[in-house]
Amino acid sequence: MDTMTYDTLVIGSGIAGLTFALKIADHRKVAVVTKKEKVETSTNYAQGGIASVLSPDDSFDLHIQDTLNSGDGLCNPDVVEMVIKNGPNRIHELAEMGVRFQLSQQDSVPFDLAREGGHSRSRIVHSQDMTGREVERVLVAMAENHPNISIFENYIAIDLIVECHLLKRGLRTTQRQERCWGAYVLDIEGNRILTFLARDTLLCTGGAGKVYVYTSNPDVATGDGVAMAYRAGAEIANMEFVQFHPTCLYHPHAKNFLISEAVRGEGGRLIDKRGHDFMAKYHPLKDLACRDVVARAIDTEIKQSGDDCVYVDISHRDADFLRRRFPGIHEKCLSLGIDITRDSIPVVPAAHYICGGVRTDKYGRTSIQHLYALGESACTGLHGANRLASNSLLEALVFAHNAAADINSRPSAPTEKISFPEVPPLEMPLNANDSEMVLIAYNWDIIRRLMWNYVGIVRRDNRLRLAQNHLAQIQREINEHYPNISLNSDLIELRNLATVAELIVNCALKRHESRGLHFNIDHPQKDDDRWQQDTTIRLDQWS
Ligand code: SIN
Repeated sequence: MDTMTYDTLVIGSGIAGLTFALKIADHRKVAVVTKKEKVETSTNYAQGGIASVLSPDDSFDLHIQDTLNSGDGLCNPDVVEMVIKNGPNRIHELAEMGVRFQLSQQDSVPFDLAREGGHSRSRIVHSQDMTGREVERVLVAMAENHPNISIFENYIAIDLIVECHLLKRGLRTTQRQERCWGAYVLDIEGNRILTFLARDTLLCTGGAGKVYVYTSNPDVATGDGVAMAYRAGAEIANMEFVQFHPTCLYHPHAKNFLISEAVRGEGGRLIDKRGHDFMAKYHPLKDLACRDVVARAIDTEIKQSGDDCVYVDISHRDADFLRRRFPGIHEKCLSLGIDITRDSIPVVPAAHYICGGVRTDKYGRTSIQHLYALGESACTGLHGANRLASNSLLEALVFAHNAAADINSRPSAPTEKISFPEVPPLEMPLNANDSEMVLIAYNWDIIRRLMWNYVGIVRRDNRLRLAQNHLAQIQREINEHYPNISLNSDLIELRNLATVAELIVNCALKRHESRGLHFNIDHPQKDDDRWQQDTTIRLDQWS
């Protein structure tokens, strides 16, 4: 059976994909494909929590204002309002499903609420410093037990099946209206390519932090959804806005480990090697300024001092409190010889979140019919030029809810009655030359270093153009060798990383100003007259 047919294909098993799947599965057959084990998602590593208005001293207006301030003129105000007003319901829903958020000690507020940068109130619900893991635990358990949800672990999507690709292979006459019919998927362990046909396809593939050599993201974050959507001709927006988290643990044996912003929310201070705090020089909100400001401040301090890192210090707080509030961070640091109850924690900024992605409307619908994008792979208008901390899990929950409502509003017909087009199988290359596999490892490394050095926190036009030229060369190599190397997940991810890197660079080159997360020394000012607009890119697949 090389063709599988479902009502809905969900690519990715994080908070967006599983929440969505659970909301439609009572009436539809759902396939969830995920390229590693089902819990191995960005969600699983989210420490801070979910921002929402849940206390009497907070208000929707304040959360909306904080989100708009952080977004620096590029948020869609209607989307911001819709997401924030939906927040409390989505949080209560998760709690009812069994997610154990830390409870409050006060009668007036149900949950303990943390503070993070850019928030004017404490409003982050959390499960200590392992919120994502707790949410994922509950969602996976429910999805596994749902009779209409089939989860395919170690299956990686290769490309979407869209009309223009079918047409190019001479297989279908169509009006010039793009539509998605599912995806080609590699069964990694079985080493075979399957055709997943579906009436609706959801991209819930998370972020693309792996495009940079230093990132807080897990290995799975290779921008697969954005790259596939781009190749299929979907509209992509705002890829230049890459969020660098100010405080990733700096230690040779600490791979991708975050020191949550909640540590600064509980009083942690940024200091340099000599113990001097420096944030007052950069912003009146000091350590709790928005992330773009804090990350650039640290970058400046490191460049000026020549030091390898700066430090977060929270050792003035009670040791028992720290062990209870930050068990994950405490344990990880201790395993590396850093006792956060006594020592300062060495940190550097690292790529954390892509605010851009596949452009969607309020229901997660993309510019291609029957293709949706949710979570970090989407650009919904919520984050604008700089995402407010802990607004991302909230966005994933709300848009998963809306997309499910959109699909559930259509009558469900048995899958067998859908008239799918004749989709030819995607074949593994015959005569594969696997001696060329070295190209994969080499180009992975080159892309990630190039992006860090030329397209990082502070940018310049000439460095962006150099990056563009290098990436074009790498793309040519990949395109040349792609058909001749056995398909494997490293190659599929490399192809996606190269595409995402190009999208980031091309969007960055289009924006001749500095705004939010995009800071270009050659255009240091914000220019609302010319650039208060999204940067969009689309591959014309029909010409
Ligand atoms: C953190 O815990 O600092 C990360 C939260 C986020 O990125 O929203």
